[in-house]
Amino acid sequence: MKPLGYIVHGGDYNPDQWINTPHIWDEDMRLMKEAGINSATVGIFAWSLIEPEEGVYDFSFLDTILDKMNDNGIKAVLATPSGARPPWLSQKYPEVLRVEETGIRNEFGVRHNHCLTSPVYREKVRNINRLLAERYKDHPALQMWHISNEYSGECHCELCQEAFREWLKKEYDNDLEKLNFKWWNGFWSHRVTDWSQISSPKFRGENHVPALKLCWSRFVSDSHISFFENEIAPLRELTPSIPITTNFMGVYNGINYQEMAKKLDLVSYDSYPPFEIEDSLEIGREWTFYYDIYRSMGGGKPFFLMESSPSLVNWRDVNVIPEPGRHAQSSLLAVAHGADSVQYFQWRKSRGGHEKFHGAVIDHIGTNETRVFREVASLGEKLKKLGDITGSECKSQVAVICDWDNSHATEYFHGFNNKRRDYFGECEKWHRQFSIRGISCDVISETDDFTKYALVIAPFMYMIKDGVKDKIKEYVENGGSFVATYLFAVTDTDDMVFYGGLPADELKEVFGIWAEESSGIPEGKEGTAELCGKTYKTEVVLDVIHSRGAEVLGTYTSGFYKGQPAVTRNAYGKGKAYYTAFRNDGDFTDDFCEMLIKDAGITPDTGITASKEVLIRKRGEHIFLFNFSDKIQTAVLDRVYFDIFGEKEVSGEITLPLCGYLVLK
Ligand code: GAL
Repeated sequence: MKPLGYIVHGGDYNPDQWINTPHIWDEDMRLMKEAGINSATVGIFAWSLIEPEEGVYDFSFLDTILDKMNDNGIKAVLATPSGARPPWLSQKYPEVLRVEETGIRNEFGVRHNHCLTSPVYREKVRNINRLLAERYKDHPALQMWHISNEYSGECHCELCQEAFREWLKKEYDNDLEKLNFKWWNGFWSHRVTDWSQISSPKFRGENHVPALKLCWSRFVSDSHISFFENEIAPLRELTPSIPITTNFMGVYNGINYQEMAKKLDLVSYDSYPPFEIEDSLEIGREWTFYYDIYRSMGGGKPFFLMESSPSLVNWRDVNVIPEPGRHAQSSLLAVAHGADSVQYFQWRKSRGGHEKFHGAVIDHIGTNETRVFREVASLGEKLKKLGDITGSECKSQVAVICDWDNSHATEYFHGFNNKRRDYFGECEKWHRQFSIRGISCDVISETDDFTKYALVIAPFMYMIKDGVKDKIKEYVENGGSFVATYLFAVTDTDDMVFYGGLPADELKEVFGIWAEESSGIPEGKEGTAELCGKTYKTEVVLDVIHSRGAEVLGTYTSGFYKGQPAVTRNAYGKGKAYYTAFRNDGDFTDDFCEMLIKDAGITPDTGITASKEVLIRKRGEHIFLFNFSDKIQTAVLDRVYFDIFGEKEVSGEITLPLCGYLVLK
């Protein structure tokens, strides 16, 4: 998508809730302008209003809203309404309702409760989307399409079972023996002799075949993607120049977001960091991971912060008002990492319904006289000063591989440590080491390009997909530094363990090691390993490895494998391949990354110096400093900068108060 030249400031606007008091709509327009809102997301849950009966359409409400928005200079992110259906649709066509894993069909209710395969639902969705596109294709307010809302879940109905079997036939070239082999069905007498014998994994059925579970996850993800493609077909046809997005949720892995992102014009993320509940410094650091994921998913291009709360949420066990000042700081953290928007759920607080106590820009009082409104309006003013940041990118010298497909593979096998896997947590743990040192770090999939990075880290990269072994080899040969951790390159794309010792095939040469055994480590029975004279706990899982030429940097100092390598470095071609054979949740990653950074010749993205409690991020020409800690922080600037919000030159030592931030150029 072309940069807009201004940061989109807006969010979910659900005026359908005030259909009987439309004077509120005018008040909305007035207050939006006052709050510096330039865009609103409309129509997300508007289906029952625009098609109150099958085939009977009434677009007058949307017409009015879009016209009013246009008259007031507010652009529309127009949503397709498939996330929640009108009751008549489920009543007349029960096949659109989702079937649970238990085989029981849901009744009408909540949202995201539709079958992904149902031809009726797909047709109804395509139809309403076509009507929306036909009607609004030339509307001057139309800025972007927002497809559905937070796609998620799965359906186990007969239509989906049949579609799954068709998916498998394609996957295995219509060859049941191939499937039997790949799923290792010779074990436990599970050989299937007809496709009809296969169905989705279920608690009371087959749930011990990891390859089946993996295929089902891939099928569900593909169903979402094909549902999405069905939704956008009329939009692409009628509004080819209008960008299309859909909102993603953190590291939700029911959909392979890295695959789906390829179909979008820009990636959007709904972000609700719990600063007010947990350690705010930890949350600030953790969220850099999510923002880096979303930027990387879009190939490094800016993403949209499609939802956030301007105040508290209503869905945690305890919902706390964030402290004053946090809102702007938290929003700017997203901008610093590549967001070209700050959008909220929602504009005006509902009077009834499930989300009536969820934060909104306009509270139940209905006026501008709240702290939240003032904070939003003040941020709106600041965002106006950042227009030239849109479109700019963060240049990363480092990438952490965090692969959606691998997240499933690491979840589905039985062995070693069945309780503590936490694939995404492992990726985040490595990622933050760069974030806290002011070094931008991309978060990529196995199949993305490695060549633009000096250093690539692959935490718990258990599954190696076709072609990736060669890619790693070439990358290291050509001068890259690649870090693998325990249980590396164990299985292939089908989740079959590589024969001939681990890590797979020629990776043994690249890393100069081989892993003979792996073991889980029970809590309370942790062992130790040593690196550069410092001792670290070996936790959760470890590999017993042997060097086959790699330099041994660290060794185990407990267990029968005491004295054997625990951390290795192998010079291969022009590059280096590192292996860390154990997991540690303490300081190891921090200390080891310090060594890696030096080894790879990586320097921080800016010359500004500060403690690791100050987050420093460079995006294009802009530099952001954040204090998420509970202490006042300082930083030393390496030259004279322009403080964009303070509108003055700054140099030397600067102070960051609590919830503080500074944007420099
Ligand atoms: C999102 C959802 C919104 C709203 C919000 C509340 O996940 O897309 O519609 O429910 O959560 O935080």
